[in-house]
Amino acid sequence: MCGITGYIGKNNTALKTVIDGLESLEYRGYDSAGIAYLHNNQLNIVKEKGKIVNLKNKLDITTLSNMAIGHTRWATHGKPSKTNSHPHSVNKFSIVHNGIIENYLELKEELLKANYKLKSETDTEIACAYIDYLYKNEKNILKTLNKASKIFKGSYAFAIICLDDLNHLYALKKTSPLIIAKGKNENYIASDVPAILKYTNKYVLLDDYEIAKIGNDKIEIYDSNLKLINKKLLKFEGSLESSMKCEYESFMLKEIHEESKVFIDTINNYLDTDFKNIPNLTKYKEFHIVACGSAYHAGLVGKYLIENYANIPVNVEIASEYRYKKIFYNKKTLVILISQSGETADTLACLRKAKEEHIDTLSIVNVVGSSIARESKYIMYTKAGCEIAVATTKAYLSQITVLAIITMYLTKNINLNYKNLEKLIEKETNKDYKEIAKKINKSKNIFFIGRGIDYALCMEGALKLKEISYINACAYPAGELKHGTISLIEKDTPIIAISTDEKLLEKTISNIKEVKARGAKVIFITNSDIKSDFYDYLIKIPKTNSLFQSILTIIPLQIIAYEVAKSLGCDIDKPRNLAKSVTVE
Ligand code: G6P
Repeated sequence: MCGITGYIGKNNTALKTVIDGLESLEYRGYDSAGIAYLHNNQLNIVKEKGKIVNLKNKLDITTLSNMAIGHTRWATHGKPSKTNSHPHSVNKFSIVHNGIIENYLELKEELLKANYKLKSETDTEIACAYIDYLYKNEKNILKTLNKASKIFKGSYAFAIICLDDLNHLYALKKTSPLIIAKGKNENYIASDVPAILKYTNKYVLLDDYEIAKIGNDKIEIYDSNLKLINKKLLKFEGSLESSMKCEYESFMLKEIHEESKVFIDTINNYLDTDFKNIPNLTKYKEFHIVACGSAYHAGLVGKYLIENYANIPVNVEIASEYRYKKIFYNKKTLVILISQSGETADTLACLRKAKEEHIDTLSIVNVVGSSIARESKYIMYTKAGCEIAVATTKAYLSQITVLAIITMYLTKNINLNYKNLEKLIEKETNKDYKEIAKKINKSKNIFFIGRGIDYALCMEGALKLKEISYINACAYPAGELKHGTISLIEKDTPIIAISTDEKLLEKTISNIKEVKARGAKVIFITNSDIKSDFYDYLIKIPKTNSLFQSILTIIPLQIIAYEVAKSLGCDIDKPRNLAKSVTVE
């Protein structure tokens, strides 16, 4: 969601570097792009609605420039338009911003009284004008930014140029992530690591209320008392390839093909001859799993596993609900936050809510050093590597892998056979469902049905299909359809039915027959040897230990969503209106 890049350096490649960086952040989702760059001591601002290529067409990226800030905007305040896109510029200051300034109306009133004229509908322009307004009194950039950081409510990551100091870029953040990266004779600002990987893998993570003053070869970080501090330089361990498409036609396809490796990397991080890197979870009597989107669906799989095998009650909640709800904690509650990015605003707020109540927290997170990872008491990293496609696949698979490992740990069962799974996953990810995709891609509605853990997988399958193919897809417990939704079934309505739990097989088959009798076209996914006439297409997946079964079951659902979206010509990696990392409420 929104991308920030910034460059300052002696190599004068600001335009190229900033645009390159924005392109590598495209996956986060955006609807306009802009850049402010210095050329011959003159600040130029170019913005365009739509894709980065529209912006690029308006620029000569070989223009020499030692300083620039760039942005991809995902509209929050005001529609996507040239005027509303960033950078915003007011008098001495030009800024790009991720996040939401919640008290912008209050600030606007003050600015209007002080005769500021605003052009856009954005909270960002107000923030920019407000910084300028404070600067008129403070006359010192650091003091101004420090003051602004205490006045602005909400979330923000800013990259800032001030005309009074063209030797430095400035950066400031609260809640929204921002990194300052170190290069040779040049330094960078970015909202996410992939933006800088082409140039360096060394970076500093900015913490809330810290201010960065960045020169060609010096990075200074000030804390909230404006004391110069020493921050640890971190090194990104992944490769540049991990953030590149390589020979694949989309990141989503590449990431599906990485799933066998992701599985084994995650397993190897926690299992050896004994369990390792796992906090003592046996002291808790109840778990709350809190997450958003696919991570929430992973939590639902975790609930089935932990409740069924470890006999510990698990409450799974959507973070945007949990954060404002009355929650009944007890001293033996552990709150588990699941998040790929580790930056999802609602999930982060739930972590903070639990901490305020002195409840222990464990995060299952993919991005190392992200806010959720840093703020939780215990952390179990998923080993999915860089995930670029907005629709998560490998990170979701790594989340359910960690939840299966936690279940093994709680049941003290290390002797499960998971060794052959790597090969099985690889085989499943190489399967092709083009024919099935062709049969269902014209449908207005597609329903997913299953019972027990398969229902949790149906929810993820339906979300995957919706987000990238724009076909309405809904998941239902197989027994629930007849309480309303079955009225939507007509001739050839696709039903994707899943049954991998032998105990529930007969029941699910009865429900499939109910829809078949009403004309549905049934795609049946199962691990059982069943031959019958109640389905139109059969997807047979291998049977494995029930703790790991969902890892195999989810793969055809991901590939079907991919093939349907592809057959419809959709932008698979960057579906409309969506963002990879949702850092606003
Ligand atoms: C967005 C993404 C989803 C993701 C959800 C939670 O909606 O598009 O793929 O599941 O956020 O993100 P997180 O980073 O917390 O897992």
